[in-house]
Amino acid sequence: MRPPPALLRQGGASSGGRAGLTGIDPDAGAAPLPDLFDPLTLRGVTLRNRIGLAPMCQYCCGPDGRPTDWHLAHLLQRALGGAALVLTEATAVTAEGRITPGDLGLWEEAQVPGHARLASAIAAAGAVPGIQLAHAGRKASRNPPWVHGAAEPGWETIGPSDLAMDGMLAPRAMAESEIADTITAFVAAARRAVRVGYRVVEVHAAHGYLLHQFLSPLSNTRADSWGGGFEGRTRLVRETVAAVRDAVPADVPLLLRISHTDWAEGGWTTAESVELARQVAPLGVDLVDVSSGGITNRQQIPLGPGYQVPGAEAVRGAGIPVAAVGLIETPELAQSIVAEGRADMVLLARAMLRDPYWPTHAAEALGRTDRLAIPPQYERGWGNLPMRSETAAPMPPI
Ligand SMILES: Cc1cc2nc3c(=O)[nH]c(=O)nc-3n(C[C@H](O)[C@H](O)[C@H](O)COP(=O)(O)O)c2cc1C
Repeated sequence: MRPPPALLRQGGASSGGRAGLTGIDPDAGAAPLPDLFDPLTLRGVTLRNRIGLAPMCQYCCGPDGRPTDWHLAHLLQRALGGAALVLTEATAVTAEGRITPGDLGLWEEAQVPGHARLASAIAAAGAVPGIQLAHAGRKASRNPPWVHGAAEPGWETIGPSDLAMDGMLAPRAMAESEIADTITAFVAAARRAVRVGYRVVEVHAAHGYLLHQFLSPLSNTRADSWGGGFEGRTRLVRETVAAVRDAVPADVPLLLRISHTDWAEGGWTTAESVELARQVAPLGVDLVDVSSGGITNRQQIPLGPGYQVPGAEAVRGAGIPVAAVGLIETPELAQSIVAEGRADMVLLARAMLRDPYWPTHAAEALGRTDRLAIPPQYERGWGNLPMRSETAAPMPPI
């Protein structure tokens, strides 16, 4: 599939790499298809390559939801490792919206200084700091995965309807005023996020959390204008992204993470995701981050390398840039996803837990040493490579 026209026009800065790795679309004459190590521009932000750190909860805040030294070390290390975009974990827009008591939050001013420190450290290492804003809805008030079960003490959970996810407590169905308050909370958190220096804002509407709970007929049985058919079920997502778009500067890209399918009968479908993408693009969403699942334990996920890429490709058919995520672990797979125009960038989670330097190792493996993003302090550790002074590699500001 060809890239959305907007991205083709931006062109690729590379093509100086291994010729065989830079895809050429025969239909486009000499127009090169992007390479994993080409920059990607979304609004006023240019990513140095097409590799991002996917959001990953670390479950290690105090109950105040403030960033810790762990978050700083974890995110900074991935920025130093060459990722272009470093997204925080799901950051709660209200205290009740935390998945666990250890989640990051940005619902109050006291959380601002810690986030400012994260954002500036990531940026100083040459990556773009991004934040994922989230509300867990009926999947709130849990323990970290290694503890299991409900948080003790927990708190009341809310959702579109009073339907429990298998094995969890039933939420209280939200009043319309609470839905409006939730949008306001996303907006307030987004305003704080850009004020502290995050340059990308992602709204989390995937993995069975609150916004996804509104999208899916498996969790939303409301009879009012926030439920029912496609228009009603997508209303909260559409209104949230529109309100966040209005609240952040025009040069800040807005990302939307969705589960493209529930992988369960009677659930949210890929076709609905494509239609949602079509509708949110004019509302100012710049890229859809395409994941899947999380709404029901009945899901049947066909796990395998790149298993969510077909969903990303389908959503991209709506004419909006997409990120692919999910078991993208080898440089070759990541490169082929981008070069074949199946997604505009890739996000990696577990592979980058194991190897913060995954992007740098991928550049080596793919012969793109011209695109290495090694901080000068660490250059001597990569002694088998040309030194920066002998390459055109950009020097990250430290
Ligand atoms: C430890 C851990 C925490 C995660 N936390 C989040 C999160 O906060 N927000 C989110 O959208 N996805 C979260 N995910 C899902 C990842 O972002 C990613 O979509 C998923 O792990 C698949 O990618 P992978 O195969 O590269 O790990 C988490 C995954 C892991 C492993």
